[in-house]
Amino acid sequence: MISTPDTMTSVVQPAYGLDAIETSQRPVPFAGPGQLRIKVAASTVNPMDWHLATGQPSLVRLAEGLRRPRHEIPGREACGVVDQIGSGVSDFVIGQSVFGWVTGAYAEYAIAEADRIWLAPTEMTEFECAALPIAGAAALEAVERGDVAGKRVVVNGASGGVGHYAVQIAKAHGASCVAGVCSSKNAAFVTGLGADQIIDYGSEDFTSERWDTVIDCIGNRSGSEIRRALVDDGRWVVVGDHQKDGLLGPLPRLAARLVRWRFGSQSCHWFVQSEDPRYLAELAVLVDQGLVRSHLSDTLMMGDVRAGYDRIESGRTVGKLAVKIAAAHRMKSTNAVSTGREPTEANNKIGASS
Ligand SMILES: NC(=O)c1ccc[n+]([C@@H]2O[C@H](COP(=O)([O-])OP(=O)(O)OC[C@H]3O[C@@H](n4cnc5c(N)ncnc54)[C@H](OP(=O)(O)O)[C@@H]3O)[C@@H](O)[C@H]2O)c1
Repeated sequence: MISTPDTMTSVVQPAYGLDAIETSQRPVPFAGPGQLRIKVAASTVNPMDWHLATGQPSLVRLAEGLRRPRHEIPGREACGVVDQIGSGVSDFVIGQSVFGWVTGAYAEYAIAEADRIWLAPTEMTEFECAALPIAGAAALEAVERGDVAGKRVVVNGASGGVGHYAVQIAKAHGASCVAGVCSSKNAAFVTGLGADQIIDYGSEDFTSERWDTVIDCIGNRSGSEIRRALVDDGRWVVVGDHQKDGLLGPLPRLAARLVRWRFGSQSCHWFVQSEDPRYLAELAVLVDQGLVRSHLSDTLMMGDVRAGYDRIESGRTVGKLAVKIAAAHRMKSTNAVSTGREPTEANNKIGASS
């Protein structure tokens, strides 16, 4: 048995701003009540990580620390192996391969609330799996709110982290037509995800057609443009917005929009993802059924996280940007733990194949 070291290599961010990011040694954390310690194999960089690192819009600082980030080690999603179990947690065992929302993912060991974690699907690498919780769960929540079965759906921003999952999940949820709005350079990629129609935003306007559901990962169109593009009882599901700066960012505009859209038969849905493990469970099933896969545009080393933030800020990422934290260490899993987190057939294969 390999003993846990006292210190670990981590990306740290003692102050807001990308220039404050560095790699350093930190004490290995301990799992508290209700928590798990994860030996992290992989994480990713998301637009949310950029907001948390820069403290922009300023609203972020109200929630995450006024003077400096509340969590010194950044990174919010991971795939790895359960390494320590806090008191009161009975649903996991040491050595299980898991994925989910964690605190301090850019480090060799990270802490997670046990109810933010699920057994990892085996049909994916750790990197592909680590990409699922934030963007995959946001896409799943958007598809559910969009009520897409049998409907014509357009995904604005189909080549990005959330969008590339939204195209696949909308198809899996029975949309009759899924159109992806992307640039011409990403048209083949989005077609490969299963999109029935490509709308090249450089030469076409998706609001010139009528849709039952708009899943909007970009937020660059006005409410009146979207109203004209939706059928009478159509749904606009707002996942992201183009405005990154200011005191409150897009919040005042989004709030005013929600009020305006209360009237009439069309509806506007805006959400901050709920980190509900139900989404992780469904994503694992969709992966095991071969209906969802993660596309990684690149896999960075821990020392390159700073460059990863720059790439995310550019808004040009295709699929997701992974971060390698430690050597892959999927271990024999004893998943026969009855907790409501029932192992999928694929989870059970971990034990058979290792
Ligand atoms: N509500 C939530 O809980 C939640 C959760 C996760 C993410 N989000 C938000 O959702 C948004 C999307 O996140 P993400 O991870 O998908 O971002 P992302 O991966 O950084 O998005 C980049 C993609 O957007 C495409 N793109 C850029 N401009 C476009 C345009 N005008 N029309 C269509 N596509 C365009 C780019 O393709 P080209 O280079 O070809 O233009 C690129 O592939 C962000 O604002 C994020 O903060 C919200």
